[in-house]
Amino acid sequence: MCGIVGVVGNENATDILVNGLTKLEYRGYDSAGIYVNNQNNQDFLVKATGKIKELKNKITPEVKGSIGIGHTRWATHGIPTIENAHPHLSNDDRFYLVHNGVINNYQELRDDYLADVKFHSQTDTEVVVQLVDRFVVDEGLDTFTAFQKVLHLIDGSYAFLLVDRQNPETLYVAKRKSPLLLGLAQGFNVVTSDAMAMLDQTKDFVELNDGEVVILTQDDYQIFNENNQEVKRDSYHLSVDSEAASKGTYPHFMLKEIDEQPSVMRRISQEYFSSKGEVEVDENIVNSILDSDRIYIVAAGTSYHAGLVGQKIIEKLAGIPVEVHVASEFGYYPPILSRKPFFIFLSQSGETADSRQVLSEVNKKGHPSLTITNVDRSTLSREATYTMLLHAGPEISVASTKAYTAQIAVQAVLAKALSEKSNYESGKQFDLQTQLALVANGMQEIVDEKQLLDDMSRRILTDADNAFYIGRGIDYNVALEAALKLKEISYIHTEGFAAGELKHGTIALIEEGTPVIGFITDKLSAGHTRSNLQEVLSRGAEVFTISMKRVANENDGIILPDVDTLLTPLLSVIPAQLIAYYTSLNRGHDVDQPRNLAKSVTVE
Ligand code: F6R
Repeated sequence: MCGIVGVVGNENATDILVNGLTKLEYRGYDSAGIYVNNQNNQDFLVKATGKIKELKNKITPEVKGSIGIGHTRWATHGIPTIENAHPHLSNDDRFYLVHNGVINNYQELRDDYLADVKFHSQTDTEVVVQLVDRFVVDEGLDTFTAFQKVLHLIDGSYAFLLVDRQNPETLYVAKRKSPLLLGLAQGFNVVTSDAMAMLDQTKDFVELNDGEVVILTQDDYQIFNENNQEVKRDSYHLSVDSEAASKGTYPHFMLKEIDEQPSVMRRISQEYFSSKGEVEVDENIVNSILDSDRIYIVAAGTSYHAGLVGQKIIEKLAGIPVEVHVASEFGYYPPILSRKPFFIFLSQSGETADSRQVLSEVNKKGHPSLTITNVDRSTLSREATYTMLLHAGPEISVASTKAYTAQIAVQAVLAKALSEKSNYESGKQFDLQTQLALVANGMQEIVDEKQLLDDMSRRILTDADNAFYIGRGIDYNVALEAALKLKEISYIHTEGFAAGELKHGTIALIEEGTPVIGFITDKLSAGHTRSNLQEVLSRGAEVFTISMKRVANENDGIILPDVDTLLTPLLSVIPAQLIAYYTSLNRGHDVDQPRNLAKSVTVE
């Protein structure tokens, strides 16, 4: 949510900022802006509402500088207007600031310190830049001390980049609860919300911790902790291919990411199985879980849905009781915990604020935890006791696809490792490596059937106002994810329902032409789900089925290759992802950047 970038010491600051913001656009696309200064008394502030391309259209050739800051916004306080777009500036035009986060006490700060100051935006951010100015101009503090003083007054989350026009050699940087990294490039330095945005400049990054403030210059960085003590920290080298974060020949990231799923399954298998076929998971993770009496999976959105499937897999293969919770609920309304809980945080980005809030409580209580994430060194990864990586490669499309299937696969790996160590028979018997190979092949068969799903979407969904996905057991879990995917990018009101529950009320919503898509993968409940589909069919619904070969009927819509019942979500979700993709496309929407959303939700 909101992306920020900064650069110091490069004549092409404008291009670096705009290029970086384009890569951060997934974090918000309500408005964008840059401030650049050529360190020779010339500077420029350019802002635009809408996407980065609107900003680019406003940047004329003379907008050049060697230091600069940029921002792409997901609006929290104040609607998306030019006034509310960042960078914000102090009334005397001396200080320029971009911010990712939320200042909870901005109104109090305004009342206490700035009652006489005229504000130009409705944002919570402007108060910070005006306050730095107040402490410098009225109290005579130097910029760094004034900035630190403001940071101590703030209640909330932030990643800040500040420029003082009177000292345009320096970027002032601060971080608390919002992601931020320094990047060390050849002859200049950068700062960014996400390393991906700066991979064209450098692969050497320096982590920042909450509460730290940095003085960043062309060739140096000084990090200070909350007690104003200097902290020495070396950079690390990120081994990632910048091509992995590009669309290549695909029209949309979402389609590319859907198509990548077979190779993600193969990569997970390579990463977590030895050449002898033995599952390889950090022994400390396995021991710590086996020492606990219950697993609590905490996550949001799609990751929560992956957790629901993970629960079934872990309980079945490892025999350990698992509860799954929505992070934003768990954070403030926790259940009574077991005596020895172990926490698993599922998060593609590793930055989700709702999950972080829970993890910080978990840490205070001293419970062990594991983050399963796609982003190495992300905040949730650093703050949990242990980490397992998804190895899915960068996921850029706002609608999550390959992270969902990777999360399920990695939970299966974990379950397998637990069962091996504890001698739990059903997991020991389960040949996960072979199953993952079958899944990868099966996924490939399904992504090759795109046309069928595009046709189906045109036939029953493109003009629909409401839609339902139904299923039982693990199919119900997938129905929830399928519905989220469709609604978030096609804007069709879609619900995922337990097939047997429809008749207890919701069936009243079925009318002529309402699309109902049924998942049928398990023999145990196939007959009942088919009966439920008959019930909606006889009330006028347009029915489509996603079924496994072993339970399929001749008339079924799409028939999936067989894999073990526990892993069927890895296949059954793929048609649903493609249905969402084509429906969004056919309705003329922005597939990768749906309205009102952003990836990496760093506000609670
Ligand atoms: C939906 C989607 C979101 C995320 C959720 C959690 O397609 O992507 O629902 O799953 O915001 O994000 P992470 O997994 O980064 O914690």
